[in-house]
Amino acid sequence: MNNTDYKLLDSQLQLLLENESDALAATSNFVGLLFNAIGNINWLGIYVLRGDELVLGPFQGKPACVHIALNEGVCGAAASTRQTQRVADVHAFPGHIACDPDSRSELVVPLIVNGELIGVLDIDSPEPDRFSEADQAGVEKLCGSFCALQEQRRSFI
Ligand code: SME
Repeated sequence: MNNTDYKLLDSQLQLLLENESDALAATSNFVGLLFNAIGNINWLGIYVLRGDELVLGPFQGKPACVHIALNEGVCGAAASTRQTQRVADVHAFPGHIACDPDSRSELVVPLIVNGELIGVLDIDSPEPDRFSEADQAGVEKLCGSFCALQEQRRSFI
């Protein structure tokens, strides 16, 4: 259930997004592809950098908090440090923002296009310590592919 085939997912991502010129459609399908392919998660979506805050973008899961400051939560930490945050126990993360009380562990990957932070990809799981190092590497690779496609398109939502 937790063994995601990230290599397969990356080739599916290329096929799904390579000819799509609309950034919103491409981003929505990126989220839909990952949400349905990564097991045992309850929320997956994008927070977009708007000025000095993160704003909710395309996602799958329950409605979530809309505005996140860069010094808030796991998402803010990923955005402000530009480092992936892999959190085994969200209750132990100072400032964690609980959008869905079912969430127990979280993986947040910064999205960087042409050297600029454009947002983060956030994944929540109801299982403690759901995300392994292999998951982190696999999701970072997918985010890298997504960002490379955004660079070709020269626009983002
Ligand atoms: N838990 C996140 C907030 C976003 S929700 O998980 C969808 C955080 O602490 O930044």
